[in-house]
Amino acid sequence: MLSGNTIVMMVGGSIAAYKSAELVRLLKKRDARVRVILSDAGAKFITPLTLQTLADERVRSETFSTIEEAAVGHIDLADSADAVLIAPATADIIAKAAAGIADDLATTVLLATKAPIVVAPAMNINMWENEATRENVAKLRDRGVFVLEPGDGFLACGWTGSGRLPEHDAILQALESVTAPQDYAGTRVVVTAGATREHFDPIRFVSNRSSGKMGYAIARAAACRGADVTLISGPSALTPPAGVKVAQVTTAIEMHQAVMEAVREPAGASEQQKQYVFMVAAVSDHRPAEVSTSKLKMSKDEEYSVKMVPSPDILRELGSYRESIEQDSGMPLRLVGFAAETGEHEELIHWAQEKLTKKNSDLIVGNFAHDSFEKNTNRVWLLDRTGRQEEISTADKQLVANKIVARARKL
Ligand code: CTP
Repeated sequence: MLSGNTIVMMVGGSIAAYKSAELVRLLKKRDARVRVILSDAGAKFITPLTLQTLADERVRSETFSTIEEAAVGHIDLADSADAVLIAPATADIIAKAAAGIADDLATTVLLATKAPIVVAPAMNINMWENEATRENVAKLRDRGVFVLEPGDGFLACGWTGSGRLPEHDAILQALESVTAPQDYAGTRVVVTAGATREHFDPIRFVSNRSSGKMGYAIARAAACRGADVTLISGPSALTPPAGVKVAQVTTAIEMHQAVMEAVREPAGASEQQKQYVFMVAAVSDHRPAEVSTSKLKMSKDEEYSVKMVPSPDILRELGSYRESIEQDSGMPLRLVGFAAETGEHEELIHWAQEKLTKKNSDLIVGNFAHDSFEKNTNRVWLLDRTGRQEEISTADKQLVANKIVARARKL
């Protein structure tokens, strides 16, 4: 999502400055331009050369550099930014930003820029909890600055608690949020993800290879675009995106219940526009007729069979009860289903089209199981009710998710 954006990144004087090198690398990997400002204190923890090599651009630190100020360097930096990131942000730079002090290059750029600002704090827990810092943070948030909560854990100063630089992924998501179009503001999005598990004893279950990555990426894309997102996830080791409500479920029956509760909830004060459901989960169509409460003793010499009975088809039910759901929630409902298939391209389109009508959906995202399951990339075809088909060629699942979410908003 950050591709083509210019991020002006300020590195403050904290031991966490060493982590800024990895952040620069991750931003470059997303095709962002990174212009680094390294404070004098920051330079005590990480060398300009390290950051410069990764950013592929000269690192700035002096406000009155004779070379840079020939083109009014600090204004050029401030104007070029699509977003400004302070990582790590010390209590000092947070205080200066809150007070509007401009006494070095970083704080001067902060005052001059019109771009959104993301603050990733890192400091001793007592400094973070100090009333002065609390007031400064509140002031910045009031002005629309995105101040992340620091992470919890062991701090380099010897204390344990809140004060670690937030995880890189949370920082990247914050940057994505402030640079993404807010076209989902005022909408509710319900996303299902991953595989369900249908147990036949406490240890054994029937499931499938879905990892949940596509669903989590859809949830992240919608959250960044301003939606109020509920993620209903089968068992998964993935970290849910920030700012998303999460319901963890195991079985298709549990997922069905969680989805129905979420979609029928009356619209909140901030949600008036539309409700979208992205049924990304690979829901088990059947479940064992009987579930043993104790481990089944299975002799290696005997054959076993497990009788399976149908589970509810969640998407089909959403399609059938569309009007009553719209009445309960007070919002028009748009349904996006997924179809994971094997075989030839014609077969994929055929089955996707069938699911579109059979499940009364508005959009079906068709993909091949071999392109998608357990992979970080995907290639999909979008089919809508007008018969239009659109291909999204192989790309990182997050990029594909962004395109699907952007397309769904037009429904
Ligand atoms: N789906 C659902 N509830 C189910 C099964 C599937 O809501 N019990 C949803 C999936 O989340 C997906 C879409 O329906 O969005 C298509 O799922 P898929 O399993 O491919 O379709 P089926 O109708 O089960 O058809 P088949 O397995 O025969 O291909």
